[in-house]
Amino acid sequence: MIRPLIVPFVAVFVATAVSAAHAEPAVDAARAQDLARQHACFGCHAIDKKLVGPAYRDVAARYAGKPGALATLVAHVQNGSSGVWGAVPMPPNRLSAADAQTVVQWILAGSKTN
Ligand code: HEC
Repeated sequence: MIRPLIVPFVAVFVATAVSAAHAEPAVDAARAQDLARQHACFGCHAIDKKLVGPAYRDVAARYAGKPGALATLVAHVQNGSSGVWGAVPMPPNRLSAADAQTVVQWILAGSKTN
């Protein structure tokens, strides 16, 4: 009597894993944090508290479910941004679009440090 229960369970599990893998490229948390250190992002940002710039968890909350958030934030990281969070602007950061995307994907996914 066990088999008929396990088969549908495994099928659902595999389907979920496959669709999750296709939905978005995996977040490379280690590389994202290396890039954020190299480019001095952590001089102005912390994960869970406001420094000069907003906490990364607040950025994730603000843009959760917003279409185009990744592209908007990549552009803001590269070109700088002002007036979104307050009076202090973010200066342009010199990093490639690919590297900015790696960091922004990690931020939008909740800045996990494991
Ligand atoms: C000199 C300080 C400073 C540095 C360095 C800095 N930021 Fe910022 N960042 C800010 C400030 C201030 C804001 C808020 C700007 C605004 O209100 O538009 C901000 C905003 C942001 C936002 C949200 C933008 C938006 O449109 O909501 C993201 C994402 C971000 N920073 C990521 C980064 C990353 C990644 C780096 C490193 C490559 C970085 N920041 C480096 C100060 C900084």
